[in-house]
Parts: sequence; structure tokens; C-alpha cells
Amino acid sequence: MKVVIGCDHTGLNVKQEIISSFPQIDFTDIGTNGSISVDYPKIALSAANLYLKGGCDFGILICGTGIGVSIAANKIKGIYAALIFNAFMAKMAKEHNRANFLAFASRIKYEEDFKTMVSAYIGERFSEEERHVRRAMQIRELEKEL
Ligand code: RB5
Repeated sequence: MKVVIGCDHTGLNVKQEIISSFPQIDFTDIGTNGSISVDYPKIALSAANLYLKGGCDFGILICGTGIGVSIAANKIKGIYAALIFNAFMAKMAKEHNRANFLAFASRIKYEEDFKTMVSAYIGERFSEEERHVRRAMQIRELEKEL
């Protein structure tokens, strides 16, 4: 499994925790990897570009709240980023929303660890039920309005 992962300067520890929790995953780390302040929209764009080239199963983005990277990533056609607070949301992001990116916060205290949340997403599949397929397609239709 291949995953693109990126963070801003607030997210290094979370990124490292996720990478070390999944030795079986082939991560492409698009940065940042230092403490110098960086702009999260640029991180989101780099990760999205890599994902859209193909070859990655999904992406993970981290900023202080997760809000900035999710807003930025969701501006890019073909990226469906879900802001995750727990394993249930991670599971539903795959099952109902067909999210292809997970966004995490580095500055909040989660009740579940990142391994649990990412595993919940990986272990789920997009529902074949007609209503979920229809809604996912409606979201793709919205991209034509942009
Ligand atoms: C950086 O200070 C902070 O604004 C960023 O990490 C993120 O929380 C934005 O949504």
C-alpha cells in the first residue's frame, strides 16, 4: 500500500507517529520536515499533485487544526479530504464519503491514537449501496460548478 503524507511545521510529530505506526506502508513524505513555518495550502497542493499522478492509495495531511489542509485540499479537483476526529469518522469517511485524504490536527488531543484512526479507514471500503454511490457522484458533479 502506498500513501502520500504531508504536514506543516506543527505536524511533524503526528506525521512521524503515523509513519512509524505502519511499517508495512510505503509512505511518500512530501514534507515539511523542519520547524520553520510553512504555508499549509502549499503542502496540501504538493500532496494532492502526487496523489493525482496515480500510484497512491490515499493521502494524509496534518496541520494545527486539520482545518487548513482540509479546506485547501478540497479545492483541488479529485481530492476528497475528510477531517478526522476519531476512528468512527475515519471509517465513515471511506464507507459513505469515499474520501481519498485524511486530515488530522496536531494541536488537539485525540481520544484515539492515529494508528487506530488510520486503520479504521484502511479497513473499510466504499459502500456499494446506491445512495452512497449517488451522493459521491453528486459531489463529483459539484466540481463542474467550480
Ligand atoms: C499554523 O499556525 C496553523 O494556522 C496551521 O497549522 C493550521 O492550524 C491551519 O488550519
